Amino acid sequence: MRIQVEPGGTVEGEAVVPGDKSIAHRWLILSATARGTSVLTGLPGALDVASTARCLAAVVGVRARPRLEAWGSMLEHERIGAGLTVDGRVGPTEAGAELIIEGEGRDRLQVPGRPLDCGNSGTTMRLLTGVLAASHFTSTLTGDESLRARPMERVAVPLREMGASIRTDHGHPPVEVQGRPLKGISHELAVPTAQAKGAILLAGLAADGWTTVVEPARTRDHTERALRRLGAPLRLEEVERTISVSRFQHDDFEAEVPGDVSSAAFLAGAAILTGGELTIRGVGLNPTRTHFLSILERMGVGTESRVTGEELGEPVGELFVAHVAGLRGTEVTAGEMPLVIDEVPVLAALAAHADGATRFAEGAELRAKESDRLAGVAEMIRDLGGRAEVEGEDLVVQGGGLAGGRTSARRDHRLAMAAAIAALGARDECEIDGMEWSEVSFPGFLPALSALGARVGAA
Ligand code: S3P
Repeated sequence: MRIQVEPGGTVEGEAVVPGDKSIAHRWLILSATARGTSVLTGLPGALDVASTARCLAAVVGVRARPRLEAWGSMLEHERIGAGLTVDGRVGPTEAGAELIIEGEGRDRLQVPGRPLDCGNSGTTMRLLTGVLAASHFTSTLTGDESLRARPMERVAVPLREMGASIRTDHGHPPVEVQGRPLKGISHELAVPTAQAKGAILLAGLAADGWTTVVEPARTRDHTERALRRLGAPLRLEEVERTISVSRFQHDDFEAEVPGDVSSAAFLAGAAILTGGELTIRGVGLNPTRTHFLSILERMGVGTESRVTGEELGEPVGELFVAHVAGLRGTEVTAGEMPLVIDEVPVLAALAAHADGATRFAEGAELRAKESDRLAGVAEMIRDLGGRAEVEGEDLVVQGGGLAGGRTSARRDHRLAMAAAIAALGARDECEIDGMEWSEVSFPGFLPALSALGARVGAA
């Protein structure tokens, strides 16, 4: 789907965003492996989350299957490429309704009848590999072309050490998981990744003894927070960045998925570039996800956040972005990168409109995302008339504004949305191809943007 973005509109007012993708994957997995009937609300209609639901439907018992299957097929991957309509939806779609999952416990998972299709979702594949490592059967996980090119040994290596038999195709999917009785290990992650950490911890729930993960840098801690609330034996050493779990079968739970703060970052970016003020309510404010706010502050943006409640250990609240007169370039250090890994595209879009250069240091992990985001972000900015380069593993964006032009999403949801935001501040009209990819994490992104005042529409 090609869209056109025109200068002139102001993005402002109040918004809600669909449920958090990272949290939704984990709570779906935890409810499907719980003993008892769980109730989840606020699940986003994001395609990645639908992938997790569909894969789980193939391995849960017959009682939980129909609802997960219905949920997962609500949004088919065929929608990508088929073209989406701009229908005026704002915020969570009706996919945000309640989902009841009758779990029978981790030990009662069933042999799937076919390979599990994780679509575009790395989180689905990596977390499920951890769960299936302790199963009593063999399963295969595969995905779309982008996912089949992504690295899987970061989960396969520790899970093999725990006792599972895991085969990859030269480090890539398909991943064949032969479940086995597991033993606890202590594993230091080679790269900071919450997906591998989550996979090891989920496997650790079914292992003999303690399973410990050491993080080279702090990453999002949604798995740990949920496990703690569910009563799992969990030890955290903040300074050494180690997390340990031991064997535990959790019971059912009820929770409402908070809005996705990474989606909120795109709307905040739109307000910043168009001179608007924006409040986003009901959004997750987990500190391992909100570091982009500190970077926005350094760039000259006034932000406020207020925690108003909590869901299964996750702080929830509101986020306010004030009117900005001018943006300054900044330096995003290597140490900060894991905490803003999903926000680099939108921060780079803002940096293209700042005074002075912005450097994102050591962004090698960006190459292993849904596309090579290091190269993709730089190309997108250049397509729209700006200056950006990859220097070694650093992304360097020169400020000064964008003239306008045509670019493509490169089949990557965050590049699609970052391009739309970058275009809102351009001097001239822009066109973006592949906007439908935004549905992977932010269903209704374009209608939300237009309802808030942006001048965007089908080209
Ligand atoms: C995620 C972790 C991050 C992030 C991804 C979601 C998660 O990936 O980029 O969008 O839910 O655990 P890595 O673990 O590969 O850094």
